[in-house]
Amino acid sequence: MSPEAGPSLSVDAALRKGARTLAASPTPGLDARVLLKTVLGADDAELIARGAQVLPEDALRAYERLLARRAAAEPVAYITGEKEFWSLPFRVTPDVLIPREDSECLIEAAIARRDRAAALSVLDLGVGSGCLLGALLSAFPNAEGVGVDRSEAALAVARDNAARLGVGARARFLASDWGAALKAPPGGGFDLVISNPPYIRSGARLPRSVALYEPECALFAGADGLDAYRILLADVPRLLDDHGLLLLECGDGQADGLAEMVIKSFPGARIDHVFDLAARARGVVADCAGTEKNH
Ligand SMILES: C[S@@+](CC[C@H](N)C(=O)[O-])C[C@H]1O[C@@H](n2cnc3c(N)ncnc32)[C@H](O)[C@@H]1O
Repeated sequence: MSPEAGPSLSVDAALRKGARTLAASPTPGLDARVLLKTVLGADDAELIARGAQVLPEDALRAYERLLARRAAAEPVAYITGEKEFWSLPFRVTPDVLIPREDSECLIEAAIARRDRAAALSVLDLGVGSGCLLGALLSAFPNAEGVGVDRSEAALAVARDNAARLGVGARARFLASDWGAALKAPPGGGFDLVISNPPYIRSGARLPRSVALYEPECALFAGADGLDAYRILLADVPRLLDDHGLLLLECGDGQADGLAEMVIKSFPGARIDHVFDLAARARGVVADCAGTEKNH
C-alpha cells in the first residue's frame, strides 16, 4: 500500500462507504454499486460473489475518484458513459440529455397505435442521444428513420448509438434547426414524427445535477417553456403524412396547453394524452389515421 493510501476495504465495505459518501444523492446505494461495478468491470452477481474480497488498491483509488465526481452532483450516466432506455444500452456524453425512463411512454404510445411490422418512415426532431429513434427502430424492425438535431456533437452520439444497436443502416442523421433543412419524403410525409424538445421555462430552478451538467440547449424553451412546440407545430404539418402519427413529450402540467396547440395544427386528428409511470400526463399524441390534416 502507498504511504498516502487509506486502509484497505472489502467490496462490501467499499459499497457501504460509497453509500455514505453519496448520502446527498436520491439513490446513494445504487449509485455506489453502479460506480464500483464500472471500476471492476463486474456485474451484480460478481459484485455479490466478491463481497468479502479486499479491493485492489488501484481499484479503490479509481472508485474514490468516481465517488468524488458523483458527490459533486455529476450524473452517474455521464460518469459511466452509458444509460439504459427501452432496455437498450445507449452511450451518453455531456453533449446529450440523459435518456429518461419517462420518455418510454412515447414508445409505448407508438406501439399501441401502429403495426410492429409496418414499414414506417420515422422522423425524430431533437434526436439527442438517439434514444427515441433507436428504440423505435428496434421496436419496428421494418421502419427507417431520420434524426435531426442542431448539435453536431449530439448527432455524432446518436449515429454511434444507432450503429451499436444494429439499426444504423436504417437511420440517417442531419443537422437542422428543427425541420428547416428537411423535405417530406417523396409520395407523402413521414409516417411517424416524434419529439422530446426542450420544454423547461427559462429561469426555472433545476436539480443541481441537471443544471450543472446537462446541455442547456436540451432544456430551456422560453418564458413559458412552449417555444419549441410553437416552432414544431408550425412546421410538422408539412412533414407528417396525411395518415401519420405525431408524438410529443412535454413536462408535467403542460399536456393540456400542448394539446390545445396540437389541435390547432391537426384539427381532424385524434388527440390523446400520454402518461408516465407515475400516471402524470407527459405527452400528447395526434393520430391522423383516417383523418384530414390541416395544411
Ligand atoms: C430534451 S433533448 C431530447 C433528446 C432526446 N430526444 C431524448 O429524448 O433524450 C432536446 C434535443 O433537441 C435539440 N434541439 C434544441 N433546439 C433545437 C433546434 N432548434 N433544432 C434542432 N434540435 C434542437 C437539443 O440539442 C437536444 O438534443
